[in-house]
Amino acid sequence: MSQAHLAYESRVNLGSYYTPPEIVNIAWKMIEPYLRSQTTVIDSACGYGDFLKNCGQSITIGCDIDETAISVAKKNNDEVRFFQTNALCDVSRAKFGIPQQSDLIVVGNPPYNDKTSLIRHSIKDVNFAIDEDIASRDLGISFLRSYNKLEADLICVLHPLSYLIKPTNFRHLKAFTANYRLVDGLLISSSEFPESAKHTSFPIVLALYQRNTQGMAYNFIRSFRFRIADKSGFCLGDFDYITGYVDKYPKKKRPISVEGNSHHSENDDSLFFWTMRDINALKRNRTFVESYSANTIVIDKRKLDYYAYVDVFKRNLHRLPFYFGNCDVLIDNDLFRQYKPSFISDTVSHHPFLKKHFQLKPIEEQQAASGLDTYFKLLFGEHHL
Ligand SMILES: C[S@@+](CC[C@H](N)C(=O)[O-])C[C@H]1O[C@@H](n2cnc3c(N)ncnc32)[C@H](O)[C@@H]1O
Repeated sequence: MSQAHLAYESRVNLGSYYTPPEIVNIAWKMIEPYLRSQTTVIDSACGYGDFLKNCGQSITIGCDIDETAISVAKKNNDEVRFFQTNALCDVSRAKFGIPQQSDLIVVGNPPYNDKTSLIRHSIKDVNFAIDEDIASRDLGISFLRSYNKLEADLICVLHPLSYLIKPTNFRHLKAFTANYRLVDGLLISSSEFPESAKHTSFPIVLALYQRNTQGMAYNFIRSFRFRIADKSGFCLGDFDYITGYVDKYPKKKRPISVEGNSHHSENDDSLFFWTMRDINALKRNRTFVESYSANTIVIDKRKLDYYAYVDVFKRNLHRLPFYFGNCDVLIDNDLFRQYKPSFISDTVSHHPFLKKHFQLKPIEEQQAASGLDTYFKLLFGEHHL
């Protein structure tokens, strides 16, 4: 572990998970073709300055809010101009002495964490001011917005893939996406960062953005082919998702019966399903549940087959690589119809109380298992593990 000078809490609060050297090298290869002798390269959350070691002739600037990190960085790199300061406050080129006309490249691995999940008792460590126009609950989003404020020509940074592929997050990046276009994106598992390996791994993208007046819309991301080591790539648009077939979230208001009692009392035969977010959430959560709560969906029985589908999907998540973690459940509807008996049998065998709700006659366990195996291999194709 390289950020050894920090105690656990500060590491979490500052998002200090330093980047493995192999990944720093890949970032280097990505920006190399764009480097000129007059280019300025900045890492505004530089830690020990590892991203700034190979900059050749360029002018290099490192910044970090962490005093100790900067003093180590200074010892490691004498060609670099370092600033110990908060990169998210009074953001401007002038702050770092970068001329307005300079070509500017941002590199690095800014912190990404949700400020609401910080470890409370050392919160003063991270209670730094953030310019209003770049403020966000997530530090990583603020950092991306700060690069736009610096009018960087090229940006090569790591960040959670969810920023791009979740439509709500993508909308939060509006000022950024209006001015930048993704030109390359390599998907990396968070488990490559030794310290985060104990959590469910999530996809991180090493992204290369170029400043561009057209920016990019969500559809651009949907059809973007991300690179993955050893595979031909990953494109959201290659798949259909469960979103169109079920309700993922509870309806705003729970229906109330005429008597004023809730519709879903113990003795009616409503069925409940746990809220669906993405594939990583499905890993942690239940599917069918027996009683109502604020987090349950009251199943529209016309869509029951598709809830059964999600339930079976959950038991087959081990077939999927990390980069699907923030996606919705994938489906091939025609293929699903073909293999439906396998799905229903599997669901019923795990949740016997569902039996009476299905018309289909269950099939042999063995036959169901082989049906599911074929279905998932066809659905995931080269991604199947
Ligand atoms: C994920 S680490 C990356 C360090 C280095 N770039 C690397 O990848 O090895 C994030 C760094 O951001 C720094 N940081 C957090 N908030 C900051 C802020 N507001 N301004 C400047 N640096 C900040 C942390 O101290 C930490 O060193």
